[in-house]
Amino acid sequence: MRRNAEQSCSFLSSQELRGRKTEMTVVKVALCFLMILNIFKDIRVNADMVDVCASCHRNATCDDKTDGSGGKVCNCMYGFVGNGRTYCQDKDECQLGKICGDHTKCHNTHGSYFCTCLAGYSPSNQMNTFIPNDGTYCHDIDECVVQGVCGEGGLCQNTDGDFTCSCQTGYKVQDGSEPFNPNRDAAHCKVIDCGSPPAVLHADLLSSTVNTHYSTELQYGCRDGFQWRRGLNSSVCGLDGKWQGPSLDCEEVDCGEPHIFPQSELMWNHTSRMGSLVLYVCKPQFYNRGRENVSVCSARGTWSRPDFQCAEIECGSPAVLPHSVLLWSGVSKIGSEALYDCDVGYHSSDTENKSVCKSDGQWSKPDYSCEEIVCGEPHNLPLTVQIWDGRVTFNSTVTYQCQHGYYPKQGQNISVCAENGYWTKATLLCEAHCGPAPELPHTEVLWDNSTAVVHRCVKGHYRHAGSDISICDITGEWQVATLHCRELKLTINDLVVFNERCLRWNAENEGYKEKYTVTFVGLRDFEHFFSDRRKMLFTSSALWPVLCLNLLPATNYTITITAESTRATATVTANTSIPVPPTPEIKYSEVEASSPTLRLRRSTNTLDSICMYEVFVLPVEGVMLFDCSSSLSRHFSTQQGCDGGYVTAQIQLRDLNAEMNFTVGDQQLYGDFFNAPLQNGKDYFIILRTVCQWRKSRTQSCIIWAKTRGTHYIMKISALVTVGSISAVGSVIIVGYWYSWYCKKSSPRHFSQVL
Ligand SMILES: *[C@@H]1O[C@H](CO)[C@@H](O)[C@H](O)[C@H]1NC(C)=O
Ligand SMILES: *[C@@H]1O[C@H](CO)[C@@H](O)[C@H](O)[C@H]1NC(C)=O
Ligand SMILES: *[C@@H]1O[C@H](CO)[C@@H](O)[C@H](O)[C@H]1NC(C)=O
Ligand SMILES: *[C@@H]1O[C@H](CO)[C@@H](O)[C@H](O)[C@H]1NC(C)=O
Ligand SMILES: *[C@@H]1O[C@H](CO)[C@@H](O)[C@H](O)[C@H]1NC(C)=O
Ligand SMILES: *[C@@H]1O[C@H](CO)[C@@H](O)[C@H](O)[C@H]1NC(C)=O
Repeated sequence: MRRNAEQSCSFLSSQELRGRKTEMTVVKVALCFLMILNIFKDIRVNADMVDVCASCHRNATCDDKTDGSGGKVCNCMYGFVGNGRTYCQDKDECQLGKICGDHTKCHNTHGSYFCTCLAGYSPSNQMNTFIPNDGTYCHDIDECVVQGVCGEGGLCQNTDGDFTCSCQTGYKVQDGSEPFNPNRDAAHCKVIDCGSPPAVLHADLLSSTVNTHYSTELQYGCRDGFQWRRGLNSSVCGLDGKWQGPSLDCEEVDCGEPHIFPQSELMWNHTSRMGSLVLYVCKPQFYNRGRENVSVCSARGTWSRPDFQCAEIECGSPAVLPHSVLLWSGVSKIGSEALYDCDVGYHSSDTENKSVCKSDGQWSKPDYSCEEIVCGEPHNLPLTVQIWDGRVTFNSTVTYQCQHGYYPKQGQNISVCAENGYWTKATLLCEAHCGPAPELPHTEVLWDNSTAVVHRCVKGHYRHAGSDISICDITGEWQVATLHCRELKLTINDLVVFNERCLRWNAENEGYKEKYTVTFVGLRDFEHFFSDRRKMLFTSSALWPVLCLNLLPATNYTITITAESTRATATVTANTSIPVPPTPEIKYSEVEASSPTLRLRRSTNTLDSICMYEVFVLPVEGVMLFDCSSSLSRHFSTQQGCDGGYVTAQIQLRDLNAEMNFTVGDQQLYGDFFNAPLQNGKDYFIILRTVCQWRKSRTQSCIIWAKTRGTHYIMKISALVTVGSISAVGSVIIVGYWYSWYCKKSSPRHFSQVL
């Protein structure tokens, strides 16, 4: 209270008090005095030491005194005025002037107050209430934002805190005047309506009349049969609610005179209103070529143009006659002509083949008929048969053939049914046939066309002589073939082998060319895997055929010959001999050595397995004979002959290569033979013998290989060399001049053989 008093009374010393002496100031001064009185009262109570706080008004608070005395004081609460003890009255803040601002209303409450906006205004804080100085103000509401506030046809105009309405064009204000406010006034806007549209003579309303409001425009048009001539043909609803127009004049249509078509007449009642008719008719001798004959007066006031044309009468197409063709130019005016002609295969005996277009528009009837051509039975020809399908019409054919046993000689064999109804002439001439093919002994017919026959010999016979064709001659007689067939009796007799490899036999079939099959098999006992099997064909017509074969040596062959025609067969054996073996390639030499090494070169042979080399050492003594074919092979230990020669080595060829070195006197065993050293100071011939032997057959060849150490005898070396180089194929080699009697005795037979 005291602070209140100081605050409330501070203005007493202020400028306000000195400058302005208003009623308000007077009130304030009075209040100040009251407060001051209270202060003195408090002081007195304080002096009484009463409980100050207990005496505070319900709407007051008990506060410490501000003077530092430590006492208490009662102060009215905010919004209340009073002494704080006996009364605290509500303070009406709204009395203090326009504290809420423009367009506002102040509302006092007990102990407080609040502000609201006036109607037509809206608070900027979007709340219902506000208090001053919180920044809120009241602004105008635009009522025109809300659609339709002025009602149908109304125009809204916003004003400060309010709005007004007026009417749009086409609307008129009712029950009041403009401007008006629908919230306060009864006035409203109503649309201008001109009501039902006006009627016009001979005219119809074209527009639909759903809407008869202001500015609606309606169109009018003249009815069918009437035409718009002048005046306005539309009507508009005006602001005054009245129709303006129409003013059109509709006049009835008039098609005038109808059209005139050439060569025609018209039937007309002389009216030319819409729907009036005109009928057209062609003049006599004419006809309507079009499809219509009526013209109508249209709503547009014109006559319709019918498809109508009068043309001159024609006869049309002439009649069609069966089995005939029409010759006509296509013109069918009066006097035009058409001609008829029969189809192929038909003919007519009529002469009137013409039709004429007459004045009545008809063709004259032609007296013309076509009949089919028929030839009747075809002719018969002697010795023939007919091939005919029985048809006798134009172009039918008959073919003639010679009867069995006759053949066509000459002439036309076809007849045709001609246009004149007759068959053409056939001239086939037939002659007698020779009959069945003639028979010849031991023959058969290979081919036969009844005028010629080819024969051939039957099986088991062969053609020996003569022609094989029989011909039927013009007299009907066979000119018989002269073929002569002989029986095949071929055998293979007296088959022999000669010259070891040639065959000869007796075929007993003169003049017949036979095919033989020759097979032969060659085997060797000494070579078990060896086999020479071959087959060959051989043709010969000889009575004694000879065939030489290319057989291998030292082989036992079994040869079989078979004749193809008779299967006759014969077998023979042919054992080929062992040929004289070839001598190896050596170089004869005379050497001074007790054990010379000699060389040879040879080519291998299929008979190597039965061949061997024998090296002979022959001391040079007197006249010597060396019998190559002698089967003697003395050992060194048994050398006692006249010549003292011996075999020093026996070497089987099957073990040898192409080259061989042999050293004489190397004291080795070769076969059964000892290669003894040569005696010093003695001369020897070294002879190489090649021997091939199988069972009892044996062949050999010899050659002088060398001569060793000095000789005391006169030798014909050149002769020896000559003998050696000729390969000494014979059997005896003469190696000296002197003939040893002893030796002569021992081998005179060989000697004489050679000589
Ligand atoms: C105190 O103020 C309240 C409102 O604030 C009022 O209702 C009450 O009647 C007042 N009391 C007295 C005793 O005047
Ligand atoms: C109405 O009149 C105008 C000329 O004013 C004309 O061009 C139009 O064709 C008329 N309409 C009818 C439906 O007759
Ligand atoms: C039969 O054949 C012979 C020879 O080829 C020939 O000349 C003849 O014309 C043929 N005869 C017939 C009827 O065919
Ligand atoms: C040939 O046949 C004879 C007698 O059977 C026989 O002794 C001989 O060894 C044969 N020859 C051959 C080379 O087979
Ligand atoms: C040939 O050898 C065969 C044994 O293979 C024998 O039967 C035949 O008599 C021999 N022929 C001749 C001609 O030696
Ligand atoms: C034989 O002797 C010659 C010369 O000494 C040698 O070149 C050759 O190889 C020999 N031949 C054989 C089969 O030993």
